[in-house]
Amino acid sequence: MPTEREIAADSSHQRAPRPSPTQIGNRKLSAQTLMLGYGFDPELSEGSLKPPIFLTSTFVFENAAAGKRFFEGVTGKRPGGAEGLIYSRFNGPNQEILEDRLAVWEDADDALAFSSGMSAIATLLLTFVRPGDCVVHSGPLYAATETLIAKILGQFGVAWVDFPAGAGREEIDQAIARGKEKGRVSLVYLESPANPTNQLVDVEAVRASVDAAFPDEKPPIAIDNTFLGPLWAKPLGNGADLSVYSLTKYVGGHSDLVAGGIVGDRELVNRIRMMRNTIGTICDPNTAWMLLRSLETLELRMSRAGENAEKVCDFLRSHPKVEKIGYLGFLEEGSRQADIYRRHCTGAGSTFSLYLKGGEKEAFAFLDALQIAHLAVSLGGTETLASAPAAMTHLSVPDDRKKQLGITPNLVRVSIGVEDADDLIADFANALEAV
Ligand SMILES: Cc1ncc(COP(=O)(O)O)c(C=O)c1O
Repeated sequence: MPTEREIAADSSHQRAPRPSPTQIGNRKLSAQTLMLGYGFDPELSEGSLKPPIFLTSTFVFENAAAGKRFFEGVTGKRPGGAEGLIYSRFNGPNQEILEDRLAVWEDADDALAFSSGMSAIATLLLTFVRPGDCVVHSGPLYAATETLIAKILGQFGVAWVDFPAGAGREEIDQAIARGKEKGRVSLVYLESPANPTNQLVDVEAVRASVDAAFPDEKPPIAIDNTFLGPLWAKPLGNGADLSVYSLTKYVGGHSDLVAGGIVGDRELVNRIRMMRNTIGTICDPNTAWMLLRSLETLELRMSRAGENAEKVCDFLRSHPKVEKIGYLGFLEEGSRQADIYRRHCTGAGSTFSLYLKGGEKEAFAFLDALQIAHLAVSLGGTETLASAPAAMTHLSVPDDRKKQLGITPNLVRVSIGVEDADDLIADFANALEAV
């Protein structure tokens, strides 16, 4: 069966699409295989093996009736979105192939690509939240997301209530009850694992709480899956409705682009698409093309980075200059976090918190002595990065909140890349000598 996108491409190119297979015999093809061809038919682009980059602001309609039909889809007069290509603020071939492939990883109905992780989150919030509503969210959230919800939406009469990332069912129930007192709860927003505490959110418990608290019209549950997705966590399978990504991180994976994505329930994605069409937060064709290239090696890169992180953390955990490390591979047997991990995750990721003995002086000495790892914020790239959240990404967070979240001056945040693991261990060992 041709996909919707291929039918759409067909109607604008007037040639029969030849869909890449999603199944051979009884075998459903894996995401890794689909990243190499799914959603693109070379015949529609002069036989080009790789999709060309479609640098155009607008698309020519075959006839006026086709133009009308496409606009009926894009304006919501007819369900299902645009049937064909119209104008590059709405859609484009590179973005559509990217969206098809993003959806594959979480077995999602549909997906959307955005110009950044924050533009994805902003478009999501603008779609579902209006004055008088309350957003219930896990905490902490990525600093810009917290600012957007608390400060910016706050200016438009939106309230918020949060619960700690590791919360159990009772605490989540209580947060939803407090949220209902403040207004219509129109969105439940999660981020797991929380940055920089690495606490996992129990998405299954949140689903159960939402279902119990809202027997009729349920607020969507959206989750920022940037840190573990799409390889090590697939929250749609745990009951989330929408999974949100900063594609800048692991999916882009080379620290050379900024983009965002949302995958999930078709009807909800359609509503977000309407907002994206209006405000123009779609990613550009060049970035979409780079993401397609990145997706081809996503599994390889993430797997290697995950293996490296395990080896590096194993070295660091017993080092005399290390106070402790927050790494999902070392959760205490029998703990609640270990239980959430077992139900929600297939890998511990490659981003972790390293607490050195001492304070800012020791953290800075360590960072300044690194030779392979780069001193930079961000994560999920091929190269190892390290930074000091208290002095950098979380500098603006009030001191008492920082303390509560464990963002202490001796904390170094590390994102492990795809270098040789023993070289990384040598670099870390050498930098610890300087502390
Ligand atoms: C968890 C998380 N969500 C969202 C974002 C925002 O993404 P972007 O920088 O692509 O806008 C980031 C960026 O660091 C992040 O770490």
